[in-house]
Amino acid sequence: MELRTVATTPFDDQRPGTSGLRKTVTHFRQENYLENFVQAVFDTVPELKGGTLVLGGDGRFYNREACQTILRMAAANGIARVMVGRDGLLSTPAASVVIRKHQTQGGLILSASHNPGGPDGDFGIKFNTANGGPAPETLTEAIYARSRELSEYRIYDHPDIPLYETGVFSIADTHIIVFDPVSDYAELMEEVFDFEAIRQLFLGGFRMRFDAMHAITGPYAHDILERRLGAPEGTVIHGTPLPDFGGHHPDPNLAHATELVNELFDDAGPDFGAASDGDGDRNMILGRQCFVTPSDSLALILANAELVPGYRGRVCGVARSMPTSGAADKVAKKLGLEAFETPTGWKFFGNLLDAGRITFCGEESFGTSSDHIREKDGLWAVLCWLNILAVRQQSVIDIVRAHWAEYGRNYYTRHDYEGIDLVAAQGLMAHIEAQFPALTGKELAGGKVAYADNFSYTDPVDGGVSKNQGLRIGFEDGSRIIYRLSGTGTVGATLRLYIERFEADPAQQRQDTQQALAPLITLALELAELPQRTGREAPTVIT
Ligand code: G1P
Ligand code: ZN
Repeated sequence: MELRTVATTPFDDQRPGTSGLRKTVTHFRQENYLENFVQAVFDTVPELKGGTLVLGGDGRFYNREACQTILRMAAANGIARVMVGRDGLLSTPAASVVIRKHQTQGGLILSASHNPGGPDGDFGIKFNTANGGPAPETLTEAIYARSRELSEYRIYDHPDIPLYETGVFSIADTHIIVFDPVSDYAELMEEVFDFEAIRQLFLGGFRMRFDAMHAITGPYAHDILERRLGAPEGTVIHGTPLPDFGGHHPDPNLAHATELVNELFDDAGPDFGAASDGDGDRNMILGRQCFVTPSDSLALILANAELVPGYRGRVCGVARSMPTSGAADKVAKKLGLEAFETPTGWKFFGNLLDAGRITFCGEESFGTSSDHIREKDGLWAVLCWLNILAVRQQSVIDIVRAHWAEYGRNYYTRHDYEGIDLVAAQGLMAHIEAQFPALTGKELAGGKVAYADNFSYTDPVDGGVSKNQGLRIGFEDGSRIIYRLSGTGTVGATLRLYIERFEADPAQQRQDTQQALAPLITLALELAELPQRTGREAPTVIT
């Protein structure tokens, strides 16, 4: 066994995006690419030396090789202990639980979230800090800066560690603890939710389908839903993690979880349906003939939080990302709670959670969570719903409609234009922004423009400023059109168009979403000259 110092040259594209460093597998497999980034992390986080690192990923192609490389490098960089999930598996929310529970100095999560996997798919790596949350921008920028000046990395020559069973191993002086990736997470869920009430729900014949999409939540869902909560076997489908996710897009939305959606929209479908993504942090919630938008789900969870033992009597504020609909704000207002609007990306919730300013937070992109960890949490959202359904004994659709009747409905959709030309996308954004000075006060699509701006955020806790976070056109009636370029795509540019309209009148709340938003969608395309500039007649994905 030999410690080697390997000479390397920097790559210029290792700046982490919305959620870590994400590239194609081919890109990651270039000589020294992974090693350089990992060394940049180790150099930038000195507390790891002599400390503990958590490691694991969503099981996608290259997960295992990357784990072995990182273990060898961790030992060569003086990290005292590495806690690695069995088989190299660990969902993003479970990584957050383990980092916090065992008070480690951070963790490396191997995942490209909902992006496709396999040799031709994507891979990713992200560093989470000691609070269990994604590294803040100051840290990711420091890691990037370090990656630009690296000249060497350290690694041990050592045979692979057997990751298929739990146990304690070592490389030089570094202890490697292979642990069960499910148990700490499942125990925390038992503390937060009323498992007995949910057990009774299933005993009463309640039918559910959970689609793990051949990604990481399979083992978690089998254990929690079928074993601990007594849901019948077969409740969890696609429950075995596969390196290529069975050739599918592990993204729980209307476009990519069609099998589940079709089953729930059948007259004889189950009472409740849910799905999670590649690394287990996203969720989609369905009732029979009912899709709950993630924005509505956040609002509903907030409104029903007193029914969940872990939140009873202690809810403070709520935060949502800027493009997420304002549904949660309505609930917060009624309950007299603080509501925050943050830029897109989970990292912006961390300070508010750490400071005790918010209990719940969520994004329109199928992410919801609370202060129980510092990541979004797919299964947690599902358990929230099960807990609420168990107590209220109503169907999902009845609960949603009662909510709209009380708070109003925020019609909401997101149109994605994936893989468009980067220069065209930048030109389109510049063209929209150039119109802003003339837009305010104008009557458009039956409404009056109240403001048009480029969203900028000042963190209320540390005062940090994040600019250029999306273009917003807001109307006096609360309607909004938002344009943003994705920070997670790996090919060309992805333009996201977010449309929202508020409807207070219950008699007007049962329209089809796309129809209800049609005038605003048409306006959004016109203002952006979208078809002309991108050559696209229709979005790639509508959620
Ligand atoms: C997308 C979502 C964002 C989410 C991120 C990571 O980022 O829009 O809400 O936090 O994935 O899951 P984007 O590609 O839009 O930058
Ligand atoms: Zn994810």
